[in-house]
Amino acid sequence: MRLWFHSHSCFSFFTDNGTHLIIDPYLSGNPCADVAPNEIDPDVVLISHGHNDHLGDSLYFGQKGALVISTAEIIHYLELKGLPNLHAMQIGGGYQFGFGYVKMVSATHGSAIYENENIFGTGCPAGFILKLDGLTIYHAGDTGLSCEMELLGKMYDIDLAILPIGGNFTMDIPDALMALDILKPKMVIPMHYNTFPVIQQDPEIFAQGCQAKGIPCHVLKFGESLDL
Ligand code: NI
Repeated sequence: MRLWFHSHSCFSFFTDNGTHLIIDPYLSGNPCADVAPNEIDPDVVLISHGHNDHLGDSLYFGQKGALVISTAEIIHYLELKGLPNLHAMQIGGGYQFGFGYVKMVSATHGSAIYENENIFGTGCPAGFILKLDGLTIYHAGDTGLSCEMELLGKMYDIDLAILPIGGNFTMDIPDALMALDILKPKMVIPMHYNTFPVIQQDPEIFAQGCQAKGIPCHVLKFGESLDL
């Protein structure tokens, strides 16, 4: 499987069976995005919560036929927009799709959709446990440090944890390092930093903290890929 970091919380996964899955496709309007939405063609879109920097171009990809997976509230919103290929889930629920297994897990955050002068409440924000090509991956979404992570560390043998480190809206570097103590992943990738001035961080400081804990950390440049 190949993983591709587009910046912010947006990652593409190319599974061995040829599925292109993208999480939180914030490309349009993202000052750090390495591609425009019309340059990629994902089969599956996962949305962790309703904020614009995560919902992103989901509508565009959904209109082109991608399967869009998110919470029931966000899926209902997208249904009203006329998207044809949707799958609603909810926190704590998992489902075996053809490309792999997806479980929605807790995130400590908000999930409103801001559309012009309207604000839509869209339920709880989420993170994802993914089982793809025999690997267990935790994409935390936007979240603060939470005791729920201890449960994830006990329930799953996490091969890769993808954690926010930007602070202000999510965990910062010290919090993300503490999360590693309870998640116990075999490898980690930081996300949700340096997209905006308010979430400016030096990911190498995080990487050094990971190294001190004996956990390999891959700091990916915007647009960089990694084979897992
Ligand atoms: Ni958010």
